[in-house]
Amino acid sequence: MRALRIAAVADIHLGEDIRGHYRKKLEGIEHRAEVLLVGGDLTRHGTIEEGQVVADELGDLPIPVVAVLGNHDYHSDADREIAAMLRDAGIIVLDDDAVVIPLDGTRLGVAGGKGFGGGFAGKCASEFGEPETKAFVRHTKEIAERWRHALKNLDADHRVVLSHYSPVKDTLAGEPPEIYPFLGSYLLAEAADAEGADLIVHGHAHLGTEKGMTPGGIRVRNVALPVIGHSYVVYCLDGEGVH
Ligand SMILES: [Fe+2]
Ligand SMILES: [Fe+2]
Repeated sequence: MRALRIAAVADIHLGEDIRGHYRKKLEGIEHRAEVLLVGGDLTRHGTIEEGQVVADELGDLPIPVVAVLGNHDYHSDADREIAAMLRDAGIIVLDDDAVVIPLDGTRLGVAGGKGFGGGFAGKCASEFGEPETKAFVRHTKEIAERWRHALKNLDADHRVVLSHYSPVKDTLAGEPPEIYPFLGSYLLAEAADAEGADLIVHGHAHLGTEKGMTPGGIRVRNVALPVIGHSYVVYCLDGEGVH
């Protein structure tokens, strides 16, 4: 199986004032990686104007771009419009589904979506009490179920899960423990562990840590821009691990 070089970043939080800046940093990316994964929080407040900046910055790159939205991209209730604008710019936007990208004879499968919170095994929210609490937990459960389904049907040589929220606690180290339930959910890791994946990429935890692992042994990488400290990071998937 041929190794793949995957560029990844999250939390680029673009706005009109930095139009052109991020694009410049992506120059030559095709020499370093074969695909770019972007793990949500593309904008600051999820406005149409910011969405257009993202479409302009990430559109028409020489390599395929796969993105998911983050919580910031939902803030102005324009998430559907932003996703449509990105798709119009040629960006693949996952919404609890999957895509297979043929890369020079090797098939990269990417599954995922925004994800959601709820916390981690032993210290997590449960579907109990007020309707608002039940709706919160149910939202994550439904997402995890859709990811499980997407992964089950994903036929590819390498499989990556792209999320905004974290599936594990490891990559949250550095964040205040009080907000862990709002940063991710173990249900996302359970879905990936049940169906298998080579790598999970996420963002959202700006103060977190890059490397972690699911209970089932899938490598997890927090690629939030402030965590990786670069415009993107490149991982090599070779069937034996993530380098
Ligand atoms: Fe963010
Ligand atoms: Fe976020």
